[in-house]
Amino acid sequence: MIVNKLIIKNYRNFKEAEAELNSSLNIFIGDNGQGKTNLMESIYIASIGRTFRLNSENELINFFEDKSSVEIHILKNNYKIKIEIILEKNKKKQVFINGVKLDKTSEMIGVLNNVIFTPDDMKIIKGSPVERRKFINIDISQIKPKYKYLLNKYKKITSERNILLKNYYTKYENKDIISIWNDYLVNTGTEISLYRSEYINKLKKYATNIYSNITDNKEKLDIAYFSNIGSITDREEVKKIFYEKINKNFNNEILRGISLYGPHKDDLIIKINDKECKYFGSQGQQRSAILALKLAEIEIIKEEAGEYPILLLDDVLSELDNKRKSYLIEHIKGIQTIITCTDDHELNILTKDFNKKIFYINEGRISSILN
Ligand SMILES: Nc1ncnc2c1ncn2[C@@H]1O[C@H](COP(=O)(O)OP(=O)(O)O)[C@@H](O)[C@H]1O
Ligand SMILES: [Mg+2]
Repeated sequence: MIVNKLIIKNYRNFKEAEAELNSSLNIFIGDNGQGKTNLMESIYIASIGRTFRLNSENELINFFEDKSSVEIHILKNNYKIKIEIILEKNKKKQVFINGVKLDKTSEMIGVLNNVIFTPDDMKIIKGSPVERRKFINIDISQIKPKYKYLLNKYKKITSERNILLKNYYTKYENKDIISIWNDYLVNTGTEISLYRSEYINKLKKYATNIYSNITDNKEKLDIAYFSNIGSITDREEVKKIFYEKINKNFNNEILRGISLYGPHKDDLIIKINDKECKYFGSQGQQRSAILALKLAEIEIIKEEAGEYPILLLDDVLSELDNKRKSYLIEHIKGIQTIITCTDDHELNILTKDFNKKIFYINEGRISSILN
């Protein structure tokens, strides 16, 4: 799958911009604040349907306009696909695939898969479990269409169940109602845990191998799934333990008024040489770990979807030392990649053998140069 062209209108600081992309490497150079991350975000939106930044949809539309659009032309198995997103102030966003309007944004997921790597991704290592759940959720959603549906359902279940727990003693019949919500929680929660377990096993397989390569086999990365239900094995076994946990801790749940067990409490434990990377890893080790995770993501999507995702590297090269940079560049051959940076000097040396296209971004305008 290749992105051939993108056309963005009134998106953030872009008025009207267009870029015809190269099938291998595309480098966008620009000073700070010119629109590099905005451009990456527009491609990401055409892939996942929402931003990776903390903005509301209205804020994506140019300050002086009411309507914005992102149009991406891709070639997938020799078949042309046009993804179009229309954002209008205070209205629900609209998504079109080859001109056909989708009922739900989630239906677009899987058409254009992406892996994005930004300096902010360090929070996957250093941040709270919420960040790590977000990371695995976005990934699994791209390759397993049912997963996103299960997540939304589970969110509703826990919030309804929490309301019931808070008001448990107000009505006698709540005693019967809670058992229905327990079933919902266990059934949907178990499915999510099984998806996560499968995904994390793959992540572990690829990332540990990549990490050893980055460190010339000197260091060992380990990744484990932490679930407060216990180890996630066989579906029936997981359900059995899940019920045991909530039955045993039911009084505590009522006291706290929240659901205490299930995948909403999951975490990913990342260790280097048997020590938790979050607390004991050096900056360099943490960067290598995140690089290994990102490269592993690419391989998992390839394995599951049958083709490589596009790779978006937003201003990360300057954060990596030469060894990691070379490793990364070496491993993106054959993957359509979009890189943004402020200075292309080093990149030029590293990518001298690449078929590439170079663009400049300046105040929301894109220009390309022939090379
Ligand atoms: N909705 C918007 N309308 C117009 N400009 C915006 C909007 N949102 C952000 N910007 C501008 O975009 C610029 C930042 O762009 P960004 O892509 O983050 O820069 P960088 O090139 O450093 O990655 C800022 O100048 C900011 O004011
Ligand atoms: Mg930026």
